[in-house]
Amino acid sequence: MNAEIEKIAINKENALENAELLAELAALSREWAEEGVCPGYYANDAEEYFDKELYIARIEGKTVGYALGHIRVLEEKTSYNAVGEKAFELDELFVTKAFRGRGIASALFRFAENDVRNRVSVIGLTAATDNYKPLLRLYTDELGMRFNHALLVKRTDNTEKENA
Ligand SMILES: CC(C)(COP(=O)(O)OP(=O)(O)OC[C@H]1O[C@@H](n2cnc3c(N)ncnc32)[C@H](O)[C@@H]1OP(=O)(O)O)[C@@H](O)C(=O)NCCC(=O)NCCS
Repeated sequence: MNAEIEKIAINKENALENAELLAELAALSREWAEEGVCPGYYANDAEEYFDKELYIARIEGKTVGYALGHIRVLEEKTSYNAVGEKAFELDELFVTKAFRGRGIASALFRFAENDVRNRVSVIGLTAATDNYKPLLRLYTDELGMRFNHALLVKRTDNTEKENA
């Protein structure tokens, strides 16, 4: 069964009527944090969904994934933008484990891309993940993003630092 993708605008004023959805999103975010695959990811508070570009994927009425982002004006010139251009930053993309591998993340991304395409000239994201190879394949090969830069780290004392 295909997921239905929908754009939802949540804010302080309509939070109460969206309480059920906010609870589902909070549960997905907790699941993501507990999965422990994205260093530094912490479960969201409800307010983090307010006044954002939010897209949800539903299967039989149940929210199984979401994409969350925001639009900002780029204040510095880089190799891919001029000063003053607008960018959609994809802050979060998550699909619950049981529904992975059937194109839901790709569908969420494409839906978001279509939705923002007339409002921005760039889509960007920063990914922190221990599972970067399949993720890079998804963003570059499947979704047409260009790889721009990477930050690689190695601790010299051979310890894994706890997420601070
Ligand atoms: C990354 C993620 C959103 C992909 O969701 P999905 O609905 O399974 O993705 P799709 O079905 O549209 O695309 C599948 C592709 O995703 C990539 N992928 C698969 N499992 C993955 C995983 N565990 N982590 C990262 N990428 C993965 C692969 O490229 C895969 O393509 P393939 O099947 O040809 O190998 C999902 O695995 C997830 O929520 N992971 C945890 C959160 C996360 O890492 N989010 C991105 C951080 S910015």
